Amino acid sequence: MKHCLYVLWFAFIVMAVAAPVWGQGQGGGNYAGADACLGCHEKQALLMKKSPHWKKAVPGNPINREGCETCHGPGAAHAEAGGGKGVGGLTTFGKGESAERKSAVCLGCHENSTQLALWDSGVHKKQDVACSDCHTLHGPPKTPAGYGTTLEGLGYTPSWQYQVCSKCHLDKKAQFNRRSHHPLIEGRITCSDCHNPHGSPGPSQIKADSVNQLCYKCHAEKRGPYMWEHPPVDENCAACHTVHGSVYQWLLVEKVPNLCQGCHVTPHGFYNRQSLFTGKSPAAQAYGRACLNCHISIHGSNAPSNPATGFNSGAYFFR
Ligand code: HEC
Ligand code: HEC
Ligand code: HEC
Ligand code: HEC
Ligand code: HEC
Ligand code: HEC
Ligand code: HEC
Ligand code: HEC
Ligand code: HEC
Ligand code: HEC
Repeated sequence: MKHCLYVLWFAFIVMAVAAPVWGQGQGGGNYAGADACLGCHEKQALLMKKSPHWKKAVPGNPINREGCETCHGPGAAHAEAGGGKGVGGLTTFGKGESAERKSAVCLGCHENSTQLALWDSGVHKKQDVACSDCHTLHGPPKTPAGYGTTLEGLGYTPSWQYQVCSKCHLDKKAQFNRRSHHPLIEGRITCSDCHNPHGSPGPSQIKADSVNQLCYKCHAEKRGPYMWEHPPVDENCAACHTVHGSVYQWLLVEKVPNLCQGCHVTPHGFYNRQSLFTGKSPAAQAYGRACLNCHISIHGSNAPSNPATGFNSGAYFFR
């Protein structure tokens, strides 16, 4: 009796679940059903099971559609032939397939998400970068550091994005390894804190309308307003800073005093290695913090004028 129920139950499952699945797929082939795939691809199955794509509770997920074949396409031919590389015309997300074909699989479900609203006009799509060039589909789910941290096994956990984006952006990788850098390798910031990799209306796909607006998001105190403004600060932080990394401290594009002397002919004279040692002692203007020894509030000052002397020290960014 027990067996009989089992058989009936099994028959019911096959009819309810497998019937719609065994139809003709988009590529014209037949579906084999997820169980067939799971048997031969234990590793991928194990990783997929940890992914949000394999949560039964989420409607519209691959597991609630054609399982593995939702993304890889109908796989009966592949499975019946015993599997193998290039066997059965699957979508493999390999090098031979166009970015458009690969991304179309994902966009079928993700097209309408707000995250991807600007995908079509974004640089990555235009440069034939596919979703799967950045997203690891057979990886564990989201962590605070990013998405799909399959690098955990390497024994150290630098930011996931640093690894993924660096595959193509080698120059940025080099910059983030310079002496002064935004703390990306340290895992305190990610590329996507500043960029929308899917596309954005701002310059260089930053998550703001302008470079300064982006900087103010995390460095609000630099926005001012100041009673005594240093004009380049409000105009463009990039006049003095380079954002990813610099060989000079504080992410500066040039070291002080050279940085300042690029714009200013100072009332103190021009300072360089020669003039520094011509006097009796090293000139304060070029030594240690150089110009910043005296002009300390370089982003602007709110210091009132001295009522006794009427001297506006703030105007010279002395405090
Ligand atoms: C009888 C065992 C078997 C079954 C069943 C099977 N596969 Fe495979 N599959 C293989 C083997 C073997 C390879 C080659 C593996 C390799 O080279 O690493 C392979 C390769 C693949 C690849 C990579 C293809 C390529 O060209 O690089 C994908 C994707 C894949 N299988 C998906 C599936 C899916 C989806 C299913 C279920 C519809 C499935 N497989 C069912 C054995 C099988
Ligand atoms: C949401 C889409 C999606 C689903 C669902 C999916 N895959 Fe994949 N699969 C991919 C992508 C994309 C790749 C390319 C490598 C990567 O991104 O991880 C891939 C790669 C593979 C490979 C090639 C080897 C490798 O790891 O690169 C195999 C084999 C494979 N998948 C099997 C499966 C099996 C078995 C299932 C069902 C348990 C499955 N896939 C479900 C998207 C998917
Ligand atoms: C059959 C529909 C479907 C397909 C195909 C599909 N996804 Fe998804 N995906 C979903 C759903 C639904 C969720 C939401 C899961 C959740 O909220 O837990 C999701 C979640 C995600 C997430 C968020 C993961 C996280 O950790 O929060 C990413 C990233 C993603 N998908 C990328 C992709 C990529 C890349 C592809 C193509 C290789 C793809 N998806 C294919 C339906 C799909
Ligand atoms: C250049 C790398 C890159 C490409 C290409 C890319 N993504 Fe993403 N994606 C990311 C990063 C990084 C995040 C995290 C964004 C964030 O935190 O703001 C993300 C986030 C997502 C999310 C949101 C997950 C959530 O929890 O909100 C989805 C869904 C997603 N991507 C799907 C896709 C799809 C679909 C494609 C292809 C059409 C794609 N991505 C292409 C890098 C990429
Ligand atoms: C703190 C914010 C911030 C972080 C973090 C950041 N970027 Fe940028 N990135 C910018 C800004 C701002 C620009 C625009 C510079 C300009 O146009 O003057 C830019 C420009 C770019 C450009 C285009 C211009 C160029 O210099 O080639 C690329 C590519 C880029 N970033 C990649 C990355 C990658 C990859 C990461 C992570 C490894 C990253 N960025 C992390 C702020 C950031
Ligand atoms: C598969 C290669 C590839 C990967 C992976 C990749 N990119 Fe790109 N990215 C490109 C190419 C190609 C361009 C266009 C040429 C350039 O500016 O370097 C580009 C351009 C950019 C730009 C400049 C946009 C503009 O308007 O000038 C930014 C910013 C950027 N990528 C950020 C990222 C971030 C962040 C990641 C990781 C989440 C990432 N990229 C991963 C290939 C890639
Ligand atoms: C997502 C937040 C974020 C954004 C956006 C951001 N920063 Fe930062 N910035 C940080 C963090 C975090 C640090 C490290 C602070 C610390 O170590 O205490 C930092 C440090 C710095 C430093 C000091 C570096 C050093 O060597 O001490 C400078 C200069 C700087 N940022 C400039 C900028 C500029 C210019 C922009 C705009 C292009 C910008 N930041 C955008 C988060 C951000
Ligand atoms: C005229 C050149 C110049 C411009 C323009 C400039 N900075 Fe700076 N910035 C410096 C110098 C020099 C230092 C190191 C000075 C110090 O420690 O007092 C510095 C230090 C910093 C620091 C780290 C130390 C601190 O004060 O927190 C941050 C963050 C920073 N700048 C952000 C910005 C932002 C954001 C902008 C644009 C709104 C900007 N800077 C524009 C010259 C400049
Ligand atoms: C991108 C050009 C630029 C850079 C770099 C720059 N400044 Fe300025 N600075 C200006 C401008 C423009 C003014 C407004 C007064 C003027 O036109 O001379 C100004 C004003 C000043 C003033 C107030 C003087 C006055 O006449 O009101 C001081 C002091 C000063 N800068 C010091 C510095 C120091 C120190 C540095 C290096 C850390 C520096 N500046 C870097 C462009 C620059
Ligand atoms: C030892 C302190 C000290 C150092 C170091 C110093 N300054 Fe000054 N700076 C002053 C004083 C005091 C004034 C205002 C009185 C004056 O005009 O001489 C001033 C004024 C200025 C002015 C305004 C000039 C004007 O015409 O109104 C600029 C620009 C300036 N400094 C730039 C620099 C630069 C660039 C450096 C580094 C090469 C530097 N300062 C180093 C003390 C210093």
